[in-house]
Amino acid sequence: MDKNVDAVIGLHYGDEGKGKIAAYLAKNADIALRATGGNNAGHTIKMDGKKLVFHLIPSGILNPNTIGIVGNGVVINLSVLIDEINVLESLGIDTKSKLLISSRAHVILPYHIMEDALFESLKGDKKVGTTGRGIGPCYADKINRIGFRMIDLYNPNFKDMLKLNVCNKNKVFELYGMEKINYEELLEQIEKQKEILLPYVTDTVDYIQNNEDKSIIVEGAQAAYLDIDLGDYPMVTSSNPNIGGILNGSGISLQRVNKIVGVIKAYASRVGEGPFMTEEDNEVGDTIRELGGEYGATTGRPRRCGWLDLVALKRVTKINGITDLNVNHLDTIGKLDMIKVCTGYKLNNEVLTTYNDKIIGHENEVECIYEEVEGNFDIDGVLDYDRLPEKAKVYIKKIENYTNVPVSYIGTGADNKNMIVRR
Ligand code: IMO
Ligand code: MG
Repeated sequence: MDKNVDAVIGLHYGDEGKGKIAAYLAKNADIALRATGGNNAGHTIKMDGKKLVFHLIPSGILNPNTIGIVGNGVVINLSVLIDEINVLESLGIDTKSKLLISSRAHVILPYHIMEDALFESLKGDKKVGTTGRGIGPCYADKINRIGFRMIDLYNPNFKDMLKLNVCNKNKVFELYGMEKINYEELLEQIEKQKEILLPYVTDTVDYIQNNEDKSIIVEGAQAAYLDIDLGDYPMVTSSNPNIGGILNGSGISLQRVNKIVGVIKAYASRVGEGPFMTEEDNEVGDTIRELGGEYGATTGRPRRCGWLDLVALKRVTKINGITDLNVNHLDTIGKLDMIKVCTGYKLNNEVLTTYNDKIIGHENEVECIYEEVEGNFDIDGVLDYDRLPEKAKVYIKKIENYTNVPVSYIGTGADNKNMIVRR
């Protein structure tokens, strides 16, 4: 079997710049695929000065010869999907010949979005700070086996099933004094949407198996530390952004996987609540936020900012079998005089060199051990590794030495073309 599948995975808390590297790798790919998550993702692409944000459709579809697949592990908000199709059409892309939607992908319905808000509010100060897009409740219904897959929308029983779900959900909404879902209106809306989407819905696993000689780039969404199993539970999303979830969410065989590119920023950021060992909730963090433009692509929220945590990074490079790292925003961090990286933690008098259960949930008792690297280098738009100033190389080498993974791609500016490619 050909090893013709590359995957892109975020290794922090999201927003590492996965869209950019995915778009680059997709240039030579026959297929670009999303396998997990939903429109909680926001992948910003800058092309010729134009900004495009994708939430569901893999950005690789922008290439003339690349087919886009929304895989079975994705949860789909029908209106968001239709909006994205319309944007692609307005760019002159013939989506009907280029976009496939998995018949098994689950559908986010308006009641999931209402539940997301309700369940968050019920958590009080334990709230996750979700994107409010109904992601968790949709995956919960999937696991509960009361969800709707795309194919179910076209089933003759659909109306009855929807009526039952709406009735059950409304009981809860009523209990909390919320507005109820109007079944007839919802049905009418879905009937329209499903007609628009029908030409795209197909058995994507079958398609992938019938096209095993075609190369695939998997555009990961969310990130390793947001993984429901391997992230900082419960401050996570409800899917598996790591490699296991990618395989499950697409039906691609492990035997086909070649490169697994882990994406990080030269600093770290997080939106929503949850542990963030290296957070700088102060002027340093504010400076990084402004320099890096760290405001959510999906919700517009200001992102929490801090330093790169090499210890946490190492854990997830191993989980995912990362073959190559992509370090973004090296230009941004170079604007600081001094850069810190976390290389260990201190708990009481014990030094910890792995990110493990002693740390997760005990962040307040743990102190980060930092090494400092000299900053103050200007590399805006540099495209050749050899032309990087020594100080920038020192930083890159530090990441490589600590993780034992080569940094093969380096982001040196916001535009898609600003990237050093080393292999
Ligand atoms: P991309 O693909 C950053 C975070 C939310 C919240 C937690 C759970 O753009 O990197 P959810 O709505 O998924 O139930 O929220 O996960 N989160 C993200 N943060 N980038 C993302 O996606 C995210 N997707 C989810 O902020 O903390
Ligand atoms: Mg995002």
